[in-house]
Amino acid sequence: MAVASVAGERRKQLGAFYTPPEIVDALAKWAIRSPTDRVLEPASGEAVFVLESLRRLRSLGALHPAEQVLAVDIDPDSCASATDVLAAAGERASIICRDFFELVPDEQAPFMVAIGNPPYVRYHRFRGDARERGRSAAASVGVTLSGLASSWAPFVVHASRFLAPSGRLAFVLPAELLRADYAGPVREFLLERFGSVTVVTFERAVFPGAAIDTVLLLADGSGSRGLHSVQLNDVADLSSLPTRASVSASPIGRWSGMLTSIEGASALDRLRARGLLRRIGDVATVDIGFVSGANKFFVLDAAEIKRHGLSRRRFQPAIVRPSQLPGAVLTEHDAAQLIASDDCLVLNVSASGLAEQTTALGRYLRRGQRLGIHRGYKCRTDMALRQNGPEAAAALVDDLLMNEGVLDPIELEQVRRARDLLRNRRVNRGRSQA
Ligand SMILES: C[S@@+](CC[C@H](N)C(=O)[O-])C[C@H]1O[C@@H](n2cnc3c(N)ncnc32)[C@H](O)[C@@H]1O
Repeated sequence: MAVASVAGERRKQLGAFYTPPEIVDALAKWAIRSPTDRVLEPASGEAVFVLESLRRLRSLGALHPAEQVLAVDIDPDSCASATDVLAAAGERASIICRDFFELVPDEQAPFMVAIGNPPYVRYHRFRGDARERGRSAAASVGVTLSGLASSWAPFVVHASRFLAPSGRLAFVLPAELLRADYAGPVREFLLERFGSVTVVTFERAVFPGAAIDTVLLLADGSGSRGLHSVQLNDVADLSSLPTRASVSASPIGRWSGMLTSIEGASALDRLRARGLLRRIGDVATVDIGFVSGANKFFVLDAAEIKRHGLSRRRFQPAIVRPSQLPGAVLTEHDAAQLIASDDCLVLNVSASGLAEQTTALGRYLRRGQRLGIHRGYKCRTDMALRQNGPEAAAALVDDLLMNEGVLDPIELEQVRRARDLLRNRRVNRGRSQA
């Protein structure tokens, strides 16, 4: 397994978590079928997929595999380590040190294989030009990605553009592929562009160091049409790919059913068929609850409230972490204990608190401003709406629009739409009161 040389913050920025060898091996075996296959690794990191692809090609009888493999990475350090890793193994490949989205498919001969583990950089870090290039690459094949899309999404779409019609794409991806709203256009694109699409899910975490569920995407331009799911315990079971029987999954909407075990899914089907299942929405209200956008700032315990000289009256008890809950059922007694613990108390304040010049609350909120809490995405949009109501939110939005440079173009568009929505609401409210 390659050891990550990219550290800390930069590692998160580049989405650099390197892939276990069992996965690399299984994906290379599945994707590379002929000694003449040309292979693309669009985010090559320390070249684990590149090295395995070269080995696989050689084992299939390729004489000059170095001429068939193209590796791309934006990070000069990763490119340098990739060169060293290959040299140490007595191998070579073409390595382009560049943003993958600057590569134009028409300028390359088609590839039979796109393989790798693209970066998973979430929307709040995946910003500016990098995000714009990814979005416009996806848009050029009709895939519209929202500003909330993580970086892996445009990688899937753009890499597919380099493939021959019967080519294969084998990627390690976050499970967001199956369930995130922003990934909907990618799911649709995959089913349209490829014959068969298989997703391999794992019961146990693949990357213990990264807080993310991982799946393998196996998309085949020539396979029998449809969406398939393979469920494995952990990476040790990968030796049975790709012959392992897979179950067909429903391609409509989200693919998150794939995360339920096969036994679990069929037990649910049996219960549903006998009319013994009810939707939770039939018996309860389901809501996301509060969104603070910055829990460290807005959720305090009693000691912190005291330290800042704030009034306890401004706070209300909240459930913020699953560990606060004793189990699936919260009794009145549990709730009373939670409240008495004074552990998680959320600040419930309107924008007018900011105007309080001399109070501890005013000082606390202005300190938040200095820390840039109000510039966080959720604080700028959702929170204004949920906590302060349309008038205050509209004022905040106008404020944001006047501060040039605070928002990037996509956010600006979202904020403009939110403002128009709020204006309409105010007009309608005015009419109904008239
Ligand atoms: C998750 S690592 C994967 C490395 C390698 N595929 C592996 O599994 O060992 C992601 C890599 O993507 C690279 N990367 C991030 N953004 C990129 C971009 N726009 N174009 C090319 N490479 C990029 C990072 O430098 C990092 O090396």
